[in-house]
Amino acid sequence: MTKKVLEIKDLNVGYETYRGVTDVIYDLNMEVHKKEKIGIIGESGCGKTTTMKTINRILPNNAVIKDGEVNFNGNDVLKMKKKELMKLRRKNVSMIPQDPTASLNPLFKVKTQMKDILKYSKEHGEDIDYKEKSIELFESVALADPERVYESYPFQLSGGMRQRVCIAMSLATPKDLMIADEPTSNLDVTIQNQVLDLIGKILEERDLSAILVSQALGTVKKFVDKIYVIYAGTVIEIAETKQLFDNPIHPYTVGLLEATPKLTGGGFSAGIAGQTPDYIDPPSGCRFQPRCPHYSNECENEKPKMIKVEKDHYVACWRS
Ligand SMILES: Nc1ncnc2c1ncn2[C@@H]1O[C@H](COP(=O)(O)OP(=O)(O)OP(=O)(O)O)[C@@H](O)[C@H]1O
Ligand SMILES: [Mg+2]
Repeated sequence: MTKKVLEIKDLNVGYETYRGVTDVIYDLNMEVHKKEKIGIIGESGCGKTTTMKTINRILPNNAVIKDGEVNFNGNDVLKMKKKELMKLRRKNVSMIPQDPTASLNPLFKVKTQMKDILKYSKEHGEDIDYKEKSIELFESVALADPERVYESYPFQLSGGMRQRVCIAMSLATPKDLMIADEPTSNLDVTIQNQVLDLIGKILEERDLSAILVSQALGTVKKFVDKIYVIYAGTVIEIAETKQLFDNPIHPYTVGLLEATPKLTGGGFSAGIAGQTPDYIDPPSGCRFQPRCPHYSNECENEKPKMIKVEKDHYVACWRS
């Protein structure tokens, strides 16, 4: 087995709200090895973005990290000081965000933001011409008119262009881990496919470890080696991609694969009745039990452990 780049251990994260502190991420465990491409699937609101934002500690201010470890190349991100975190974000982990508008600074031109990112490499000995390098990156993500993009403010670009700028930024310096969180959810359908293909190509061509969070199961299926299925803040099934699609075991995974998610998110359009729980007072035991067609008493009493059902295939369900 190759080296572990990322290891999340028993992570618990919630948010302070006017009703109290929620329990969103619940004893979540995850591993990414060198060069491995992981897909994360799960309904809207199940905690995918919260988990991804915990990895490089870009959670909103009201988030509460309660417990756990997020080891990156063996160092716990949750214990890192500001300077180490800056280095982690600049050098180790890149994030293609769910919402490119929110992640680009509206006050600065694209060129200023590119420079800010490339500066790190320059300070560390690389001979870089900011403009040349930026244009080259924009061309690599098939941005039309890269010179204009370079000179523009984010608001002067379309949503698809802004997302490509974010992808170019994530490729600006070589990183160990690339996280793409629903990288196309704010784009219209035709552009969605182009951007997904582009990310897929990058994943195929480059030797990086990657986590792709996406409701577009077709894309996930095409580009990742292994899939983590998350329900209500916890991992309920892990399998090699083909195994997961050929032989899903957890009732939630079965429902998820049968359902066609709405393009805008918002859960199943068919498949499993009900919604993700209220995180102020989530169900005891298996969090899926109130919605599960195979519910039995033991499901309420204790959280099911992750058990191996076949080679490289793990499920957390009392029926397995
Ligand atoms: N800043 C916040 N304050 C309070 N609750 C939050 C905050 N951000 C997220 N949440 C809640 O945490 C839960 C998990 O949200 P998260 O964004 O991680 O889900 P997700 O799986 O990424 O969903 P989607 O598929 O819609 O992107 C949701 O119930 C959400 O409402
Ligand atoms: Mg999300």
